[in-house]
Amino acid sequence: MKNLLVKATWAFLIVSAVLAVGTAIAGIEFRGTISGDVLEFSPDTDGPETEAVKKFKETGENPYDGNLESAKAGYVIFSTACAGCHGHLAEGKLGPALSDDYWTYPKNETDKGLFETIYGGANGMMGPQRGRLQIDEILHVISFVRSFKDGKSEAAPAEHHSEE
Ligand code: HEC
Repeated sequence: MKNLLVKATWAFLIVSAVLAVGTAIAGIEFRGTISGDVLEFSPDTDGPETEAVKKFKETGENPYDGNLESAKAGYVIFSTACAGCHGHLAEGKLGPALSDDYWTYPKNETDKGLFETIYGGANGMMGPQRGRLQIDEILHVISFVRSFKDGKSEAAPAEHHSEE
C-alpha cells in the first residue's frame, strides 16, 4: 500500500516536471484581447527575431521600456501607424487616448497585454497590427506609449501639439 503511494507520488512529480519543462521551452502564451484565443505568430511578416523580440517572447516584458531612443523610434512608427486614429500625441481621436493611465482593457497596463491588443487587435476599427508592423516595431511603439508621464512624453516633438 505504501509502495503504491510512493509510486503515485513519483508519477506525479515526473508529470509535473515534464509539463514545467514544456512550458519553459514554449515561452509564454499570448492571447487575443477580445477572443482569448492563443495568438499564432506569423514568421513571414513578424520581422527579425532581434534580441528584444526574443527576450519579450520569453518574459512578456518589453526590453525597450525606459529607453528614450527607443521611445523616439516608436513615436516615428506611431505617427504613421496609429496617430491617424489615436492622435499625434496619443491623446485620443477616433480611438481612445493611450497617453493617460485609463485602459478600456485593464490588461494593457502590462506590456504583454498591450502587445496582445496591438498585435491581435481589439473591437471595431482597432484591427490587428500583425502583418502591418513587425514585432520589433510594436515593441518600439509600446516603449513610446510607456514614455508618457502626466499625458506628456519627451519622445514626441513639442511642435506636434494637437492642432488637428
Ligand atoms: C483605424 C483606426 C485605428 C488605428 C490605425 C489604430 N487604432 Fe488602436 N484603437 C482604435 C479604436 C477605435 C479603439 C477602441 C477599440 C476597443 O475599445 O475595442 C482602439 C483601441 C486601442 C487600444 C486599447 C486601449 C484601451 O484603453 O485599452 C490600444 C492599446 C490601441 N488601440 C493601440 C493602437 C496602436 C499602438 C496602434 C498603431 C500600431 C493603433 N492602435 C492603431 C482605432 C485604431
